[in-house]
Amino acid sequence: MSFLALEKLAKVWPDGTAAVRGVDLSIAQGEFIVLLGPSGCGKTTTLRMIAGLETPTSGRITLAGREITRLPAAERDIGMVFQFYALYPHLTVAENIAFPLECAGVPRDERMAAARKLAEQLELTALLDSRPRALSGGDQQRVALARAMARKPAVWLMDEPLGTLDASRRADMCDFIRAQQLEHAVPTVYVTHDQEEAMRLADRVVVMNGGEVLQVGAPEQVYAEPASLFVARFVGSPGMNLIEGFSRASQGVTLLESAGVALVKCPKLVREGPVVIGVRPEHVAPDPAGALRGRVALDAFMGSHRYLHVDTGCGRVVALGAADRPSAVGEDIGLSIDPSGVRLFDSDAGSRLA
Ligand SMILES: Nc1ncnc2c1ncn2[C@@H]1O[C@H](COP(=O)(O)OP(=O)(O)O)[C@@H](O)[C@H]1O
Ligand SMILES: [Mg+2]
Repeated sequence: MSFLALEKLAKVWPDGTAAVRGVDLSIAQGEFIVLLGPSGCGKTTTLRMIAGLETPTSGRITLAGREITRLPAAERDIGMVFQFYALYPHLTVAENIAFPLECAGVPRDERMAAARKLAEQLELTALLDSRPRALSGGDQQRVALARAMARKPAVWLMDEPLGTLDASRRADMCDFIRAQQLEHAVPTVYVTHDQEEAMRLADRVVVMNGGEVLQVGAPEQVYAEPASLFVARFVGSPGMNLIEGFSRASQGVTLLESAGVALVKCPKLVREGPVVIGVRPEHVAPDPAGALRGRVALDAFMGSHRYLHVDTGCGRVVALGAADRPSAVGEDIGLSIDPSGVRLFDSDAGSRLA
């Protein structure tokens, strides 16, 4: 059942830029949706149309069964957290956080208690009586987040709300946002260009590029089954290995080759011809008997595992190595590819081959 629906939503700016090109999306009650894509792909424009801050050129938006395409922003019951936040300078942190509740007519004691609870969860308690100008940029952003999440509207919209926070804070804030969202079951559309953030937060990720939706799916699905080379490159860090190769039928199986090396045998038959062989690092393992040989260019230790960047005849390939098995730079090693991890793409169109 869709709670918020976008139908063929499009926005062309007066200068002719087609920022959003017919986006269809259906969001269920309580669902956390993340719009993920590179800068300029139309994420903010899409969000602002849902909020009522931009008028769509065409298409429809419905919320809880009511069409809201052209309804003024103030009549939509939508809470928005912006990329660029502005706190009220003359109010304290506590008053800032409580402000949306004051507007909603919540009595003072109740709204201050709510503000204190949010501040505690965000480790802002010590700052409750400060004015915004006394706060660091990161603290201001967290206050803005607390303020935006004080009220529980029909929908939360968040546009890169963690923009200027440092990496360790970002992870904590992600978990805070998700915990609040789960507790209050407010359907949420969250915009980011950061695929790690998207994976961490989303029930479903919507990958966008050039104003279009390329793929919609659970994080696991978008990661494991990218619908195109673009998604394969954009999702995952390090990204999927993409090897230019050739597929050939041989005795009932498909042989995938690249640069004259038979890399892997796949049980399924795929059309013969040039292909891009996609395989994530966790499906490439150091193996003395491996068919793919190369020289270690980099051994990146990650704590629980390591990534070996290996220069092979088929280009740079990243393999997942064991934490306790370091390699020396310059060492010659073999790699083997797990056939179950192989995804094939059309070399020209970039689309996924069945
Ligand atoms: N107010 C505007 N007027 C004209 N062009 C705009 C405006 N806002 C955004 N754009 C253009 O629309 C496209 C999409 O922008 P935006 O939605 O902000 O992308 P994103 O949030 O994914 O980075 C970009 O090409 C951008 O330059
Ligand atoms: Mg944006």
